[in-house]
Amino acid sequence: MVREICVDLGGDRSYKVIIAAGILDETGRLLGAETGQPRVMLISNPLVFSLYGQQVVEALQSAGLRVSTALMPDGEEYKNMQQVNHMLDEAMAANLERSSLILALGGGVVGDLAGFTASIFQRGIRYIQVPTTLLAQVDSSVGGKTAVNHPQGKNMIGTFHQPDLVIIDTLTLNTLTEREYLAGLGEVVKYGIIYDSDFFQLLEDKAALLKDREQETVQEVVCRCIKIKSEIVAEDERESGLRMILNLGHTFGHSIEKLGNYKSSKHGEAVAVGTMLASLLAQEMGLLDKPSVDRIASLFDKLGISASLPAYNPDDIYEGMLNDKKVKNDKLRIVVPREIGGYKIIENPDRSMLIKIIKRAASL
Ligand SMILES: NC(=O)c1ccc[n+]([C@@H]2O[C@H](COP(=O)([O-])OP(=O)(O)OC[C@H]3O[C@@H](n4cnc5c(N)ncnc54)[C@H](O)[C@@H]3O)[C@@H](O)[C@H]2O)c1
Ligand SMILES: [Zn+2]
Repeated sequence: MVREICVDLGGDRSYKVIIAAGILDETGRLLGAETGQPRVMLISNPLVFSLYGQQVVEALQSAGLRVSTALMPDGEEYKNMQQVNHMLDEAMAANLERSSLILALGGGVVGDLAGFTASIFQRGIRYIQVPTTLLAQVDSSVGGKTAVNHPQGKNMIGTFHQPDLVIIDTLTLNTLTEREYLAGLGEVVKYGIIYDSDFFQLLEDKAALLKDREQETVQEVVCRCIKIKSEIVAEDERESGLRMILNLGHTFGHSIEKLGNYKSSKHGEAVAVGTMLASLLAQEMGLLDKPSVDRIASLFDKLGISASLPAYNPDDIYEGMLNDKKVKNDKLRIVVPREIGGYKIIENPDRSMLIKIIKRAASL
């Protein structure tokens, strides 16, 4: 079954997200139909390319597209300007034109870097996302945020540049390590908590199947996440309001990631921990009752996600939150659940309350 969602940004900026098992083989046909038949530069990393590169290249070539390939080393530390320059050199060498396409084949790192490169090459060319991690399939491939890191901070250099098409082959998730897959599930849960209680219920009902990567369940879940994300992005493309709710668990999470030097916790793992902290904060403020907090904790548990807080100093966690780039005009804003399926944005919560919550989480 092929599922299709439209990210409705009005007129010709709207684009399709196509989700199915085994759809990598259709990449060429889909691209040809959606974009004409230009030249394509495929950006990936050696690991993902060794798994799926040939399959995609052949699919593109058999549809008559001219393909070149450019690889970046694997890892968040390579999501930087040096690799962007490398990609620009490759784009020049491959004679890409304004009508050419970039295709990102990989996780969020490849997607963010390829999207950024596409947004600046010749003042912006079109690009296609073909995400291969769960995190990229449910989150980063849709919405048009592109970025690379600066030594001073993550995602400090970037643009808004929407893809022309997103092709999601859920079979690619079968080769992910357990840890990467579970980290992606950390982001899946956030959509249910802040936006859609029915979806939360579905995750509870199908937790075992989802954990086991049962294909029908995975496809349904990816599709529900993309639907939610596309609704939010259509409403608030540039994150001036509603889109902020996608940061549930991220203010705490970014601080935890940083304290572990971006090595101890994966992003999705830190977000799961942060989501538990945000839930405890909501409980403390009377926005979420104890049974709901327990439901959230138990869903993480059923999915096999550890949401327990690493042993960092609470003051350090708090300081890290203040330094997060989401602090605007010196205001700390934290998204918390309001019941399951809703949210509230808390501005400048008391330091003492946050420290209390962090200590409580550490003792759980
Ligand atoms: N643009 C956005 O809106 C947005 C949103 C969330 C996260 N992000 C960014 O996404 C990045 C994280 O993405 P990620 O979690 O996908 O990490 P990643 O891209 O580093 O991928 C994780 C690992 O999985 C490997 N991999 C990818 N696909 C595979 C497959 N099918 N089989 C086996 N291995 C595979 C990769 O090579 C890598 O080693 C961060 O840089 C973050 O800032 C961006
Ligand atoms: Zn995230």
